[in-house]
Amino acid sequence: MTYQAITRAAAAIADRTGRQSHRVAVVLGSGLSGYAGSLSGATTIAYEDIPGFPVPRVEGHAGSLHSVDLGGPVMILAGRVHTYEGWELPDVVFAVRTAVASGCGIVVLTNAAGGAGDGMAPGDLVLIRDHLNLTGRTPLLGPNDDRLGPRFPDMSEVYSAELRRRAQRVGERVGVPLREGVYAWFLGPSYETPAEVQMARRLGADLVGMSSVPEAVAVRHMGARVLGLSLVTNLAAGISPTPLSHEEVTATAAAARERFHRLFDALLPELAGG
Ligand code: HPA
Repeated sequence: MTYQAITRAAAAIADRTGRQSHRVAVVLGSGLSGYAGSLSGATTIAYEDIPGFPVPRVEGHAGSLHSVDLGGPVMILAGRVHTYEGWELPDVVFAVRTAVASGCGIVVLTNAAGGAGDGMAPGDLVLIRDHLNLTGRTPLLGPNDDRLGPRFPDMSEVYSAELRRRAQRVGERVGVPLREGVYAWFLGPSYETPAEVQMARRLGADLVGMSSVPEAVAVRHMGARVLGLSLVTNLAAGISPTPLSHEEVTATAAAARERFHRLFDALLPELAGG
C-alpha cells in the first residue's frame, strides 16, 4: 500500500516537473523554507496536488515542492509534517520516501534545534553526526515491505561521513563554518524541561529537536544517503537564561538566512553535479 502510494506520488512529480528523476532532495525546516523562494527557474507544485502527500496544517503556508536544475535535478521540499501534529509516522516520512523513489540518492534534512552541547550557540549551523531516538517511535513499525528496504536496516552511519566532509569543504570555501553534533529527537510540541536537556546531554546529545530522525531512518531504510543540518535557534531549556519561544526560533532563523543561503547555493550544485 505504502509502496504503491509512493510510486504514484513519484509518477505525479515526474509528470508535473517534466523530469523523470531527481538526484538530490532537500527538506527545509522551521524558518528555513524561504530558501525555496530564492531559486530561479524552479517548477513549483503544491503538496496538495501530489497524491498522498500530507499537507502541513499549522504553519503559514501549506507546503510546496520545487524542482530545479542545479547541474543536476534537485527537489526542494519546503514544509514538512511532524508527529506532534498528530500525523502517523508513515505520513511524516512520505515525502522523503517519494524523493528516494524519484531517484534521489542524497536527502538533505534541515531543521531548527536547541543547542544542548558545550559551546553550541544560537546561529550555529551544525552537521548532524548521529542521532538519539528518545521517542521510542519508528516509521518502520509493522510489516516490512522488502521493496522499500530490509527488515533490519543497519544504522551504523545514518549521516554519511563522506557527505559531511564534502559539506565541511564547501562551508570552508564560502566562509560558513560548520560544527558537528549528535541530535536527540523529542516528540514535542512542548520544549524539553531542563532535566530532559541534562539527560540528553549525558547521553551524548549536542542538539535537541522535534523532527528529522524518522525521515533519516526511512531514507536509510531505502538505501539512500543522508546529510543532516541543524540551525541552532536557541540554547536548550535550562541552559538558556530565558524561557523558550517559537518567536525566538523564527527570529534566529531569519538572522541566519544569509549564511544558510550562501552555504546551500554552493552545496547543492556540488551534490547535484556529482
Ligand atoms: N527544542 C526542541 N526543538 C527545537 C528547539 C528546542 O530547544 N529549538 C528549535 N526547535
